[in-house]
Amino acid sequence: MGLNYDMEVLLSRKQIEYKVHELAQAISRDFAGEELVVVGILKGAFIFMADLVRWITVPVKLDFMDMSSYGSSTQSSGEVRILKDLETSIAGRNVLVVEDIVDTGLTLKYIVDILNQRHPLKLRICTLLDKPSRRKADMTPDYCGFVIPDYFVVGYGLDYDDKYRNFQDICILKQEV
Ligand code: IMP
Ligand code: MG
Repeated sequence: MGLNYDMEVLLSRKQIEYKVHELAQAISRDFAGEELVVVGILKGAFIFMADLVRWITVPVKLDFMDMSSYGSSTQSSGEVRILKDLETSIAGRNVLVVEDIVDTGLTLKYIVDILNQRHPLKLRICTLLDKPSRRKADMTPDYCGFVIPDYFVVGYGLDYDDKYRNFQDICILKQEV
């Protein structure tokens, strides 16, 4: 695993921490008196979800989905397949889908269409990052941490070629040497 890269911090761990707390407060307020099934999309959302749910004050159940996309490592093709489905039934339940980043929106659109067929009570989307300039599907997250320009970013769960997920900051990946 080469560690030669050119990185620039876009969002520091402190900025992220503050924003995650804010998002959790908004979610807890909106679902006050209700329960939530929080669905993390693997692998990118695992760190964000772990931090987010610790600040949510309404009762939660946690579940995960894993999707494969047939695109290259930096481009999504929109052709998606379920690798791991939910273990929880979401019929009649409030569902919060947690994503790391919405780029073209094709992956999320596919997930939302599948989950809606299972008749959740409310289905809401929470993404840490949003790159709206590249959108191809009509997708607007209900909760969004940061809107960012069209950079390829890594860290805090986000990867390039399955690397750099463990970085505490979110960094712009400029090149791999
Ligand atoms: P979409 O279908 O184009 O919205 O792609 C969403 C998925 O592509 C995300 O869940 C990420 O796994 C990946 N992705 C998109 N942009 C980035 C990025 O800047 N860094 C890391 N992964 C990204
Ligand atoms: Mg990814």
